[in-house]
Amino acid sequence: MTTNPSEARTLEAIKYHRGKLELLDQKRLPQEFVYDACTTSEEAFDAIRAMRVRGAPAIAITAALALAVEASQRRETFSSRDEAVRFLAAKLELLGESRPTAVNLFEAIGRLKAYVSATSLNLADDAQGARALIDAFVNEAEAMLAKDVADNRAIGAFGAEALLEPAGKGNIRLLTHCNTGSLATAAYGTALGIIRRVQELGRLDHAFCTETRPYNQGARLTAFELVHEGIPATLITDSMAAFLMKSRGIHGVVVGADRVAANGDTANKIGTYQLAIAARYHGVPFFVAAPLTSIDLSMEDGSSIPIEERPASELTDMNGVRIAAPGIGVWNPGFDVTPAELIGGIVTEHGVVYKEGGASGFDLAAHVSQARDTVKTKKH
Ligand code: MRU
Repeated sequence: MTTNPSEARTLEAIKYHRGKLELLDQKRLPQEFVYDACTTSEEAFDAIRAMRVRGAPAIAITAALALAVEASQRRETFSSRDEAVRFLAAKLELLGESRPTAVNLFEAIGRLKAYVSATSLNLADDAQGARALIDAFVNEAEAMLAKDVADNRAIGAFGAEALLEPAGKGNIRLLTHCNTGSLATAAYGTALGIIRRVQELGRLDHAFCTETRPYNQGARLTAFELVHEGIPATLITDSMAAFLMKSRGIHGVVVGADRVAANGDTANKIGTYQLAIAARYHGVPFFVAAPLTSIDLSMEDGSSIPIEERPASELTDMNGVRIAAPGIGVWNPGFDVTPAELIGGIVTEHGVVYKEGGASGFDLAAHVSQARDTVKTKKH
């Protein structure tokens, strides 16, 4: 379905009403604004693999909601609870094969699998138990959508405060990389959510976004969002970032994350690492915006984060036309890992984590456990 983007209040990568999921085809942006129906896990798998939907939180939410839609359609067909458990487990397994780097997907899959196992224990192993399990699964998947929006707003508020504090009363200029906005999340965005919040507070002088070679999420998607939101913004090539910092007085760099290890080493879109190096050289604060679902405490540091390698044609071709010399070899990692040492702060929905007393890394295990305690206390 084609929609006029100017009619949309905020851009939505994922449109969901119970039983119906539509995904904005981000490969067609900014020329075309088209939503495709997604009714099965296989269709979600294809949309994620082909990057029609992308961005760490959006990938995880799409996987969960697509399975919720598919499971609702199959609700009456299960003759036993265990048949429904096997169905959900197999589909979650499949969705986990779609893309390797963003941990949000695996966090969601692990959590949903555990939820299915725990919930099924209290249900009878018959058709009624199967229906109850499917209904519970749908509720759980839907909760992810609402939580992501709330988390992003919190990240926006904490990040804006951290960036504005050293600026006194002045307005600030921020640089971001890749796309971390409404198109990469359920809405609002993470790093772009921080920029959005600074703008809402009337304190944004200007935003700069990199084009983010080779897939151009910055030029195609972030630029599209910034224009749509009326945020004063300028596009630069990735290779202009260091000179921008030197010549334009940038107050902060804010980026998203696909996976943050326990010490704060952060996998994010290729090019993030060199931005962090340039920021350190120029004394520009460098912040990572990441919901807790992007933190992978099972990895001590970033050395074993799997890095997706993308097709050579993304470098050699533009709009289907070969631009690189025939015969040249190509290396196209989709992500890099920025060492914690170069990161000034990590902004989650529970606050900003800084390094303690001259440490080179962050204590994210402590932050996560504190956050979980806060959530538990609030529930009681
Ligand atoms: O390959 P993509 O477009 O999925 O990569 C997206 C990024 O690297 C984002 O910066 C990251 O997922 C954070 S999104 C809030």
